Amino acid sequence: MKTITLITGGSRGLGRNTALSVARRGGDVIITYRADTNAAAQVVAEIEAMGRKAVALPLDVSDVADFARFHDEVARTLQTVWGRDSFDHLINNAGHGDMAPFVETSVAAFDALFGVHVRGVFFLTQTLAGMLANGGRIINFSSGLTRIAGEGFSAYAAAKGAIEVLTQYMAKELAPRRITANVVAPGAIETDFLGGAVRDTPEYNDAFASMTALGRVGVPDDIGPAVANLLDPAHRWMTAQRIEISGGQSI
Ligand SMILES: NC(=O)c1ccc[n+]([C@@H]2O[C@H](COP(=O)([O-])OP(=O)(O)OC[C@H]3O[C@@H](n4cnc5c(N)ncnc54)[C@H](OP(=O)(O)O)[C@@H]3O)[C@@H](O)[C@H]2O)c1
Repeated sequence: MKTITLITGGSRGLGRNTALSVARRGGDVIITYRADTNAAAQVVAEIEAMGRKAVALPLDVSDVADFARFHDEVARTLQTVWGRDSFDHLINNAGHGDMAPFVETSVAAFDALFGVHVRGVFFLTQTLAGMLANGGRIINFSSGLTRIAGEGFSAYAAAKGAIEVLTQYMAKELAPRRITANVVAPGAIETDFLGGAVRDTPEYNDAFASMTALGRVGVPDDIGPAVANLLDPAHRWMTAQRIEISGGQSI
């Protein structure tokens, strides 16, 4: 049976690369996007050009009140496009970064980070859990910054740390349905993240490259294919794990 993978934030960056990587391995995809309909449509077109099915649905992962509507839209889409009432893999990728010294971090910035990375992931997964097929997969995106303290990332890294703990609970409580839950923790990757800081600021790029064993910062192609591989049936016995994909950052 062909698999269906739902990826939040699939219109650019690591989510986009993961969506294309899943399709390249023969999977169908539902991506979510916030506002950029054209970027989302382009990902859908690229996947369809590979002979796979793809659908893009709008979603703001911080808007918990909208999740019931999103649930119903996913259910309708599954029925219309695939004739199914379930999907196989959920990848919680969407999210933004923010930086400030610990003593200067505002309540608004903290709430925005936790709203997307923790509250959003918690309740979106809860909302969709009934539609996730038995034997399915959950992959939650964390960050290398939960292992290495990067100055200015206290709120962001604390939110990602919460996701790592939450993943263990998902793994425990969904195990009776043979659903696995794991964390992927990328190192510094060249995307639009943090206004493209890693990609566009030579000082940042050099600093992260110099602390990386493989000698450079990452690019989306270092992440998407690795995440797509984790969906392979060969990984069915791996659950509650944190997999860092960072080229050996700060080892
Ligand atoms: N790049 C890195 O160095 C790095 C390192 C470690 C972990 N990560 C994590 O990897 C994930 C992807 O990051 P990235 O590098 O691909 O970042 P990116 O290029 O900035 O893309 C972020 C994606 O998340 C979506 N998004 C952000 N806030 C959202 C919200 N409230 N609701 C719905 N979608 C939202 C964006 O959608 P729109 O296009 O609609 O804005 C976009 O698709 C994030 O969880 C990030 O924390 C990144």
